Amino acid sequence: MTEIRRLGGRIGAEITGADPNALPFDELNGLLLEHKALVFRGAHLDDDAQLRFAARFGALTRAHPTVPPVEGRPDILPVNGEEGIRSNVWHTDVTFVRTPPAVSTLRALVVPAYGGNTLIANSAAAYRDLPDPLREFADRLWAVHTNDYDYALPRTNADKAAEYREVFTARRYETAHPVVRVHPETGERGLFIGGFAQKLVGLSGTESRDVLRLLQKYVTRPENLLRVVWNVGDVVVFDNRITQHYAPDDYGDQPRELRRVTVAGDVPAGVTGEESYIVSGDDAAHYTPLAVAS
Ligand SMILES: [Fe+2]
Repeated sequence: MTEIRRLGGRIGAEITGADPNALPFDELNGLLLEHKALVFRGAHLDDDAQLRFAARFGALTRAHPTVPPVEGRPDILPVNGEEGIRSNVWHTDVTFVRTPPAVSTLRALVVPAYGGNTLIANSAAAYRDLPDPLREFADRLWAVHTNDYDYALPRTNADKAAEYREVFTARRYETAHPVVRVHPETGERGLFIGGFAQKLVGLSGTESRDVLRLLQKYVTRPENLLRVVWNVGDVVVFDNRITQHYAPDDYGDQPRELRRVTVAGDVPAGVTGEESYIVSGDDAAHYTPLAVAS
């Protein structure tokens, strides 16, 4: 029997006893829009079933604009936390392109005995938490997102990190997005920043860092977080338009393997309806079927 249980006061619901591909789409999408992140326990999807699940939300992207996919599976990104390339930075997936994915799905194939969780934050709750003057300030800001920065910090294996960085930035992208994005389906406003947001339009580098740090603190308040403790076979889907996530690097050298499939998203718009624009790089048409050049 299908059971749905809220996991936090502001984000997350857990669904047990349901095949994610059998749940009626209206119900599934309604749950996603409401809870922002859904955890399907014991779903045990294989590659094809995960692709089918993600495709329920719309056309799929390729695995990644620059990182190679799982062998023979162009739409599946391996997430396997090798030394030096762990995503322990708060981010929203692929926001350096003009049309970042709308929805991300993850499934767990191998999980460590401890640690290796995924944290997901509700960026709409963060926006609502801002004091009025800060909210009005944020409404007017634009941020330049880029893949060309030290996303993968050298850990114990600096060579591997350098190699990954070279792959990650094989094509360079810079896109200006509104700091406050209006969700295309719900109209809800959320802070659309995260790790790829490196600079605010019209501010210096130092000012940008200070303001982004201030806003980001609201995103990562414990109240706004869901912590997913993985079991093999779990499937997680989150709304990439209005969340950020983070993979704590706390599992030592234990193996951890997830697979990610993302759904193509449209061009973000801010509170005035103004749309994101490319600063440099291409429209990533090789990556997303919803690429828009200008
Ligand atoms: Fe991610």
